[in-house]
Amino acid sequence: MFVESIEYLLTPTSPLARKYGFLYSSISLRHRYERCKKKWIPHLKNCQDVFLEAAKDLPQRNSVVVLGSAHLHEIPIHLLLQNFEKITLVDVVHPLKHHWLAKKNPRVTLVTQDLTSALKHLEKLHSLSDLHALANDLAGEQLFKFKADLIVSGNLLSQLALLPISAIEKVMKRELTTEEKDAICSDFAQTHLRNLNGCEGKKLIYADREVIYKDPEGKEIYRGHYDVNFNNYKEMRKWTWEIAPLGEASKKYSIDMNVEAYIKD
Ligand SMILES: C[S@@+](CC[C@H](N)C(=O)[O-])C[C@H]1O[C@@H](n2cnc3c(N)ncnc32)[C@H](O)[C@@H]1O
Repeated sequence: MFVESIEYLLTPTSPLARKYGFLYSSISLRHRYERCKKKWIPHLKNCQDVFLEAAKDLPQRNSVVVLGSAHLHEIPIHLLLQNFEKITLVDVVHPLKHHWLAKKNPRVTLVTQDLTSALKHLEKLHSLSDLHALANDLAGEQLFKFKADLIVSGNLLSQLALLPISAIEKVMKRELTTEEKDAICSDFAQTHLRNLNGCEGKKLIYADREVIYKDPEGKEIYRGHYDVNFNNYKEMRKWTWEIAPLGEASKKYSIDMNVEAYIKD
């Protein structure tokens, strides 16, 4: 607890990221990884395999950008350094160890950015239609543009709408229905994909697309999915990630995610 408090105080964080709990989520994600990493091994191996496959055929391997880099549990820093000369990590909050790494290794650069550009508008939202209008406005904007030999969007797609959804739930004092959440999630995901498309370089995107809750007997009790059109991407691989074994999120259910990876030249 003491270590986490120090980490919380020392990690450089933008006021928006701190306000909306990204730093707290980042520290919790590392703890979840420590608790679940044995179960996560097949997922982590799949992420590394698709990364190595995408890097293999590049004409040159000078630069890589990782969007949603978090702790780099999925594509560890040693793999990035082995395969590319310059590494750019992009996230709304970076863990302390990556700030230290970027200070001592000139090959690593950190970009701290809200890739949705939505966070700064959240306080002005009063209703679900305001959130739809915001998503609509942002869909017409260029929110990011990176240039690299390989640009990876690493398990970020489903996360982009989470904060905007919880902000509007607080204002409306009710939980959005699954359909309402899925519609917002699809809007943010589609905008991300369009911006990724506009980046210069080969693109690799992997993301959870479907969530499945199972009771202690392994019987499915809920399945949720958000739509995104990957039409000009090539599908690479699909796998199931046992993200929360029974007892991790609840004693009443376990959570699996169906993950998909796509590539585009
Ligand atoms: C599930 S984690 C990604 C896992 C990561 N690829 C790894 O290897 O450990 C999702 C990340 O997306 C980041 N994120 C969520 N919303 C974001 C936004 N609007 N802009 C930038 N990053 C965001 C979170 O801070 C978090 O680090």
